[in-house]
Amino acid sequence: MLLKQYSLLSVLITLFLFTILISEARLISSHPFSTKLSAKAMALKNEKLTHLHFYYHNLLAGPNVTALHLNGPLDFNHPAGLFGRLTMADNPLTLDPELNSTTVGRAQGLYGVASRTDATFMELFNFVFKADGEYRGSTVTVLGRNHILAAGIREMPVVGGTGVFGFARGKVHVKTHSFNTTTGNTVVKCDVYVFHY
Ligand SMILES: *[C@@H]1O[C@H](CO)[C@@H](O)[C@H](O)[C@H]1NC(C)=O
Ligand SMILES: *[C@@H]1O[C@H](CO)[C@@H](O)[C@H](O)[C@H]1NC(C)=O
Ligand SMILES: *[C@@H]1O[C@H](CO)[C@@H](O)[C@H](O)[C@H]1NC(C)=O
Repeated sequence: MLLKQYSLLSVLITLFLFTILISEARLISSHPFSTKLSAKAMALKNEKLTHLHFYYHNLLAGPNVTALHLNGPLDFNHPAGLFGRLTMADNPLTLDPELNSTTVGRAQGLYGVASRTDATFMELFNFVFKADGEYRGSTVTVLGRNHILAAGIREMPVVGGTGVFGFARGKVHVKTHSFNTTTGNTVVKCDVYVFHY
């Protein structure tokens, strides 16, 4: 008797949940602001993989500063070091390591010291390519973790893009090319690998 009641209850509960699921599904498919499109409708052709390579100049001192600490120098001797320091940047991107070589675009964004114990940065950058170049003002957005003192190549995700790089995804490899201990100015080699249409 008890068993019978129990199974009747479970049938009722299942029916109830099923009804909720169906009405949820109906709600989703009847949203007036969403339409399913084919890739063709957006004129998307085959996905391509492009490798972009350039140098990035983070200039904290000198005649043309391009990176600015927002919350000042924190105390190096504090147990948490530089944790929490934020820097806004509008850094030139050049073809070769020299600042006076051909400019290909700029890296505009923000980075901050995200670790209490080591030199790990959280970086958020839009690489914007020159409007008169091959990539016509298109952008690639990078958001990731950069342990700036790690040996070798560091990697951050490409999370999106615009223009030529619409629907982009990929990764960027960065490697310090030179670091001036007096000024703090850094030249970083960037290799971007990006899937886009
Ligand atoms: C700094 O910027 C000015 C104006 O854009 C430019 O004329 C000058 O050559 C730059 N100096 C250096 C060292 O890059
Ligand atoms: C660029 O700067 C270097 C010195 O850093 C100089 O030797 C070279 O001639 C410059 N090139 C141009 C094109 O101005
Ligand atoms: C570092 O920058 C200072 C100031 O601009 C300059 O005098 C010095 O030569 C630079 N050092 C290196 C190793 O490039």
